[in-house]
Amino acid sequence: MGKFEEVAKKSVMQIKPYVPGKPVAAVQRELGLKDVIKLASNENPLGPSKAAVKAMAKALDSLNLYPESGAYELRQALAKKLKVKPDTLFFGNGSNELLQLIAEAFVSPGDEVMFSAVSFVVYSIAANITGGTIIQIPQDNFRHNIDGFIARLSPKTKLIFICNPNNPTGTIITKAEFEKLMQAVPKNVIVVLDEAYFEYADDKNYPDGIKYLSKYPNLIVLRTFSKVYGLAGIRAGYGVADPEITGIMERIRPPFNINTLAQKGALAALGDKAHLAATLKTNKEGRAYLYAELKKLGIKFVPTQANFIFIILDRNAMIYFEALQKKGVIIRTVFDNFARITIGTMKENKRLIKALKEIK
Ligand SMILES: Cc1ncc(COP(=O)(O)O)c(C=O)c1O
Repeated sequence: MGKFEEVAKKSVMQIKPYVPGKPVAAVQRELGLKDVIKLASNENPLGPSKAAVKAMAKALDSLNLYPESGAYELRQALAKKLKVKPDTLFFGNGSNELLQLIAEAFVSPGDEVMFSAVSFVVYSIAANITGGTIIQIPQDNFRHNIDGFIARLSPKTKLIFICNPNNPTGTIITKAEFEKLMQAVPKNVIVVLDEAYFEYADDKNYPDGIKYLSKYPNLIVLRTFSKVYGLAGIRAGYGVADPEITGIMERIRPPFNINTLAQKGALAALGDKAHLAATLKTNKEGRAYLYAELKKLGIKFVPTQANFIFIILDRNAMIYFEALQKKGVIIRTVFDNFARITIGTMKENKRLIKALKEIK
């Protein structure tokens, strides 16, 4: 170990750096390929809303000024859309930043942070930054095991992350399961319901976290403009919670953490109903197509409530990743023989299936 690694917090040295989906440009460079598609990071295959692009372009000339820190216009518009009070909202440089800030605000060394064993990798990073003790709950058939969470509650439990729909498995917890968890969790334990893929879920038993906020003041709901709104590149996410919690977040939020372009783009995207509808239609059609084709190929998968599909391969996922990459298709390995594919445009989905047929 170098001397700075000895100086760094032990909990930080336990963190494995986040590995993002491989960028298109990297595959183009490394393999000398021109035509590369990325189905690895659950981005919106239709691109950003044109209205958002226009609004951001219009804001370029004012970039000498700091952003409006309280995101006034975006806050008002979101409050109206979600039917919540403006002071229940807080914003972040992507919801990723909010996951970390929440852990920093509530978790002290030795506190327990609980989440599913196969879930969004940033929960581990957030817990480790704060020196919290990670409690991972094994899944039940690729789903969050709510009874497992309840059984592991202890006086040290401080924070629970529930990813719903879950990344990477695409499964959901139902309204009944969510209520069961919230009833069992002590009122001073913070529950973060990460709804990054909220808009895609179409199961009637899927709970809309915002509807439960008045009943459970220890609940924080997180959403993002990175997925269905197609704005992953500008980094805009938000949380909805009791004003006491948003007040705490306000204390530790870096000043101006939601930048001008993010505020303008998100506001315009929120009003672009056609883009939202087209995105959901593309996802639904793509999902049906991929289900049918994966079945024909004999590739097992977990039915999804999001914009990606968790697939179970017959060999290590890395073998598929590398073979597909050579054909200009980037997917995401999870571990062992598990991988995750983002649902793309129909053209992209067909290309993925063709490549899979060729390498199987
Ligand atoms: C479950 C989940 N939560 C949060 C995020 C972070 O999204 P962002 O920081 O872009 O808002 C992601 C991104 O992939 C995610 O999958």
